[in-house]
Amino acid sequence: MTDLDFGGKKVLVTGGAGFVGSNLTERAARCGARVRVLDDLFTGSLENIDPGVDYDFVEGSVTDEKLVSKLVKEADYVAHLAARNIIVSTKNPRSDYEVNIGGTLNVLMAAREHGIGQIVYTSSASIYGNPRIIPILEDERPHTFSPYSVSKLAGENYCHAFYETYGVPVTSVRYSNVYGPKQDPKNPYCGVIAKFIEAIDADLAPQLHGDGRQTRDFTYVEDAVDATLVALLSPKAEGMVFNIGTGIETAITELVTILTRLLGKNVTPEHIDRRDIDNIRRRVLSIELLRTRLRWQPQIGLEEGLKRTVQWHLGQK
Ligand SMILES: NC(=O)c1ccc[n+]([C@@H]2O[C@H](COP(=O)([O-])OP(=O)(O)OC[C@H]3O[C@@H](n4cnc5c(N)ncnc54)[C@H](O)[C@@H]3O)[C@@H](O)[C@H]2O)c1
Repeated sequence: MTDLDFGGKKVLVTGGAGFVGSNLTERAARCGARVRVLDDLFTGSLENIDPGVDYDFVEGSVTDEKLVSKLVKEADYVAHLAARNIIVSTKNPRSDYEVNIGGTLNVLMAAREHGIGQIVYTSSASIYGNPRIIPILEDERPHTFSPYSVSKLAGENYCHAFYETYGVPVTSVRYSNVYGPKQDPKNPYCGVIAKFIEAIDADLAPQLHGDGRQTRDFTYVEDAVDATLVALLSPKAEGMVFNIGTGIETAITELVTILTRLLGKNVTPEHIDRRDIDNIRRRVLSIELLRTRLRWQPQIGLEEGLKRTVQWHLGQK
């Protein structure tokens, strides 16, 4: 992992009790940041954060303009992760609009008013829809299939506009299928890997949507967090958009094969109907911009990442 030093600076992490946010909170604190988490605990939980980590918690919403203004004023950096996820967003596009777009606008308005060292905004590879070219470059045209991808892209566009118009130092990062410890299979909104592990471990057939040959770029959470914090601390990242992924395309069936082997089980996947919210056939991100501009590259391969994730899930039982 990259050698990072926050030197006692104050970092506000919105959504810091969630899956990625809790991993980021722990890492930033261990790298010398004074971390404050703002979270409404909608999907997050304080149990996600190691009790040995020193941080400050504020329960509240990014839609609360006054609260966000106060917290941003008191921070040196902001990692803005708070968001309604794709399933909630599909069911309730208004909540998605208010939190994902409105909350991002609140962070940016506060940064414009009070000044800030740097902000990183976590967007999503879902903004690409079905891409024309694989691996997907950052300048691929967006194709927003879901309310969630509309709101994540709108957040990015606001970031860019605030950088250009008011000079707010902000970077957008586009995550691709992040997985790892703290992704909760009991939460109906979580990623596919946590669900597969739970099913296979219980000797149940993992359910694959469609033929299972759809591909994704699976990113281990430690890598996603590392790249996000590198972007947060690098002046070279200001005003830019970066893909965060591995550059490796993996079919869902391959994932199930590896997990079945790691768990020592013998289950056959069940094929069910395609889901209507994520009809993307192939997805793999180009990470050349990260490599060349920020000198960053992922450290954890799929096999190792899955092994650590399986160990974590087994330890939770
Ligand atoms: N996990 C992935 O694969 C992935 C992929 C692409 C993008 N992202 C983005 O990364 C970020 C983190 O995602 P995650 O997977 O950790 O999801 P998560 O649901 O575990 O975390 C989101 C956190 O935000 C909090 N939150 C939601 N609404 C809030 C509000 N109004 N005010 C304050 N807090 C609020 C939740 O309680 C939760 O703790 C999100 O912005 C998401 O869009 C994640």
